[in-house]
Amino acid sequence: MKLLQHCGRPRTISKSLMQALRVENLSEDLSGLALVETSIPERAPGEVLVRIHAASLNYPDLLMTRGDYQFKPEVPFISGLEAAGEVIEADPDSAFKIGDRVMGGNKTGAFAEIASLPSRSLSPVPDALSYAQAAAMGAAYSTAYTGLIELCGLKEGQWVLVHGASGGVGLAAVDLAKAMGARVIAATGIEAKRERIDALFAPDATILAEGRFRESVADITNGALCDIVFDPVGGDVFDESTRCVAFGGKLVVVGFTSGRIADVATNIPLIKGFSIHGLRAGEYARRFPERGKAINASIAQLAQEKRITPAIDRVLPLSRWREGFDAMASRELVGKVVFEPGA
Ligand SMILES: NC(=O)c1ccc[n+]([C@@H]2O[C@H](COP(=O)([O-])OP(=O)(O)OC[C@H]3O[C@@H](n4cnc5c(N)ncnc54)[C@H](OP(=O)(O)O)[C@@H]3O)[C@@H](O)[C@H]2O)c1
Repeated sequence: MKLLQHCGRPRTISKSLMQALRVENLSEDLSGLALVETSIPERAPGEVLVRIHAASLNYPDLLMTRGDYQFKPEVPFISGLEAAGEVIEADPDSAFKIGDRVMGGNKTGAFAEIASLPSRSLSPVPDALSYAQAAAMGAAYSTAYTGLIELCGLKEGQWVLVHGASGGVGLAAVDLAKAMGARVIAATGIEAKRERIDALFAPDATILAEGRFRESVADITNGALCDIVFDPVGGDVFDESTRCVAFGGKLVVVGFTSGRIADVATNIPLIKGFSIHGLRAGEYARRFPERGKAINASIAQLAQEKRITPAIDRVLPLSRWREGFDAMASRELVGKVVFEPGA
């Protein structure tokens, strides 16, 4: 039995062990992951203990199991960079109190029944969202918002090309850009996903991001090309995207799910008069905490008004973690995977 302290009053939670998905060793094939019974984390000052109701899978979670992400936690570590749940313990002067619905994360620890998370990394769950939707919204929408609105100053009526449009971040960018009144071309590398993307967020067009897709972009935009290209894929998709940006436009480097980091000759952005922006949404919020809070507040407001809603491909009990990771690795998903710990 574990005693928990809140405002000087001791409370109990019914057990001292919890279910968690732990990376025991780095591996290419998920063999280093295991569902374990482990101790409930100790809460440090400034942290909030959260009973996790839902946690969503992000591409960096997959990369971290292989040691391929820029952040390399010491092994073993509990996987999972974001979740939503209820507060079960907090500092007396915390912004959060027991029972509050919160969402957020701290790079690791979310795929567990309970996580101790820094108060600054959490925000309230908008009433309009379920726990699963809240877990699916955080990182994807803050990445899309930081890229499209903070870095690129997205305006109504602009043409936006979004790659990897079936992914968590890509779908969030499509949804957000549409909500902002932009004209959106959703690009996917898999033909069969186009219909599903259309059904979810009705972009102005969907295209197959294969070969010389600039010609499709030019046709759709009547030759204007795109004011913003949002690219989580990289590789050949990035190369061809340099031909899809309008003069004065912006090409946002979001990630490299294709597995290749593209090179670009600097005369190309010069001659075509566009700029390339590197996006690090989490780091942006850490360096500019006031902007980070403002971004979260704007996203929450849009969600509350039901102008944006995260797309969920499937909800799985955490015990079926492998199915979720495999589906992401094999590129089956249209939307997010959400795990429910304890189920
Ligand atoms: N810069 C930042 O601040 C930031 C923040 C969060 C995430 N990210 C990065 O954003 C990327 C997407 O993350 P996510 O969580 O949205 O992942 P995700 O849900 O798995 O989506 C990634 C999408 O990329 C495409 N893709 C996957 N494998 C591919 C391949 N081999 N070749 C070409 N395209 C492929 C797929 O879209 P289609 O099948 O539709 O083509 C897939 O749906 C990752 O690289 C992640 O590290 C960056």
